[in-house]
Amino acid sequence: MLCLGIESTAHTIGIGIVDDKGNILANERSTLTTESGGIHPRKAVEHHHLFYKILLDKALDTAKIKPSDINLIAFSKGPGLGGTLRVAASGARALATKLNIPLVGVNHPVAHIEIGKLTSGFKDPVILYVSGANTQIISLAAGKYRVVGETLDIGVGNFLDAFGRGLGLGFPQGPKIEVLAKQSKTYVELPYTIKGMDFSFSGILTKLERMKNKPEDLCYSTQETIFAILTEASERALAHLNKKELLVTGGVAANKRLGEMLNTMCEARGIKFHQVPKALSGDQGAMIAWLGVLEHKAGRKQTLKETEVDKNWRADEVDVIWN
Ligand code: ATP
Ligand code: FE2
Repeated sequence: MLCLGIESTAHTIGIGIVDDKGNILANERSTLTTESGGIHPRKAVEHHHLFYKILLDKALDTAKIKPSDINLIAFSKGPGLGGTLRVAASGARALATKLNIPLVGVNHPVAHIEIGKLTSGFKDPVILYVSGANTQIISLAAGKYRVVGETLDIGVGNFLDAFGRGLGLGFPQGPKIEVLAKQSKTYVELPYTIKGMDFSFSGILTKLERMKNKPEDLCYSTQETIFAILTEASERALAHLNKKELLVTGGVAANKRLGEMLNTMCEARGIKFHQVPKALSGDQGAMIAWLGVLEHKAGRKQTLKETEVDKNWRADEVDVIWN
């Protein structure tokens, strides 16, 4: 069985093709970037419309298949920006109708989790989901991905992007901060805000915006501080839940320093650790296609009405029927 997955929740449009064993046959994407400043939602919609057909053709080409070889269409139903979400939703509906095959709208955060479970082979991990809008510590219990800890204000990726914008960097700022951080070893103290397994970043951002230190030192200190917070919260979750595996997934999981810190903590506790491969950490269509396969095989059916986009759909609202 082949599933084609379409992603367009925010800055990236992606089209991936996977089979029902979890082999990725194609994973084409394009991200709206800027020279400086953030991204405008309207510009993202224009970008996604422009690249939809190009990426679709490219994905079919890379996978060496014809449209008629596809058995299932999956797309990101939410959460995300209303306008960008509709690009994948309408593309997916049109394709499924034309090919007369089933359509499934899937949850974007759960797709980040499931692609990490696929690459790790973990059965019951604590999941540190770190991306643009979301930063959550998650564990599966009684048929749902329960959020046991999370940011009380902004997601870590959005925090890094906002801080980087202030330094004059363009979107996405997170990877550029990682590069600058490597050029310093000077730690300047920043607020360290954690309560149990919840944490917050906006106070750190306010403080950073007033500091006049060298950008490299600020980037280094920011990474050391926020990744220590995330490592501490993950360690507490592993201890409380008595789990033996830690999976880090989502766009910020591309960061090497975060992986190093989590790995050090896991080694000290005898925990297995997996950092999702960089090619699958940020938004892309393969993770959407893979979750589509899991849901479809478990019997998920959606009426056309149920495939309407949902801007605020949280991971913990999804019934995990495939486990
Ligand atoms: P969400 O999954 O919460 O809806 P999203 O889909 O907008 O968020 P992702 O593509 O999952 O975002 O992640 C994008 C974020 O990851 C951006 O904020 C970007 O700056 C950040 N990011 C990407 N690479 C790195 C890196 N190497 N270090 C730190 N942050 C990074
Ligand atoms: Fe994402």
